[in-house]
Amino acid sequence: LEIYGAGLGGRVPPYPMTFDELERRAELALPPSIWSYVAGGAGDERTQRANADAFSKWGLVPRMMVGATERDLRVTFCGMSLPTPLFMAPIGVIGLCAQDGHGDLATARAAARTGVPMVASTLTVDPMEDVAAELGETPGIFQLYTPKDRELAESLVRRASTSGYRAIVVTLDTWVTGWRPRDLATANFPQLRGHCVANYFSDPVFRSRLDQEPETNPMAAVGHWAQTFGHAFTWDDLDWLRGVTDLPLILKGICHPDDARRALDRGADGIYVSTHGGRQANGGLSALEMLPDVVDAVDGSAPVLFDSGVRSGSDAVLALAMGATAVGVGRPYAYGLALGGTDGIVHVLRSMLAEADLLMAVDGYPTLASLDRTALRRTI
Ligand code: FNR
Repeated sequence: LEIYGAGLGGRVPPYPMTFDELERRAELALPPSIWSYVAGGAGDERTQRANADAFSKWGLVPRMMVGATERDLRVTFCGMSLPTPLFMAPIGVIGLCAQDGHGDLATARAAARTGVPMVASTLTVDPMEDVAAELGETPGIFQLYTPKDRELAESLVRRASTSGYRAIVVTLDTWVTGWRPRDLATANFPQLRGHCVANYFSDPVFRSRLDQEPETNPMAAVGHWAQTFGHAFTWDDLDWLRGVTDLPLILKGICHPDDARRALDRGADGIYVSTHGGRQANGGLSALEMLPDVVDAVDGSAPVLFDSGVRSGSDAVLALAMGATAVGVGRPYAYGLALGGTDGIVHVLRSMLAEADLLMAVDGYPTLASLDRTALRRTI
């Protein structure tokens, strides 16, 4: 009501109201190399486009006379009670999108203001403890890239636990980076100088392994990343990680139902369906396409998080109807950050939530429980 009332009252919103406009303005606001890093994907970006296009193949069937005057979007998973089913997906070095480089702190403040949890990347520029301190009452989740050195993994997970993160997202699909032509064409991250990915650079185990102070120039940082995190996580590693933390473990990047079943059998607490926004593989398969199969395989025994291609509140509602427990916003909030810092992110999240809420009202699905696959029709 607040957003809509202001608009109808003739107050021009300070930030874009559509994703296309948000993207256009973010491109103008960011230096070309940083724009390429955030907006780019793998190969010819077919998967990236497929992720977003997949939503237009589905429609929500309206139900009338339901009396959906009050909507309830609350959700609980992995011990976290949340006001809405949105979360902010991890975005490494998001500091690049912030004027002052402290994009992780800005994101955490947006989480505190909206109640939308932040998944803090291993590659935060700001140390994860500083990020956690800005989250207020909103839960934080720590995303682990899987290091070759188990002691480093253990240290990162221990730091997450000590600083109050409530779950660990283990990213499985990025032990090697995808082929990203836009990065290769413009790779030059000037703003990284001086405060490069301080989260893992400041880790005591990482530091104990150094012969000399690491260079923080961008190329050296990429080299460090590859040397440190280029480990293809295995089922045995999952057994090991399960043994070193009591925090819920959510596996990110799972798209095959067999992998989902196996992960749960081996002690994972949640599945996170994602194609990494089309930044890793470019096989052309959207994440949404695989969501129903994974939801069926999990069969209600664990939460199923989802991201890749969510651009609006309606997209989020479709993913929820397909069985996602919670839906991750990726690039849109990075663009909000680029345009307006914390305020820009808050605007993006609140607009999505308002759109989702209104759609649920208009189409007669007042609760998340009422939204299931019977609400959907394939349109193409
Ligand atoms: C990412 N993503 C990501 N994922 C992850 O697990 N750890 C990370 O550090 C990053 N870093 C990262 C940087 C940038 C610039 C982007 C755009 C994305 C992937 C992210 O969590 C999510 O899966 C995608 O962003 C979802 O796709 P869309 O909706 O952004 O297209």
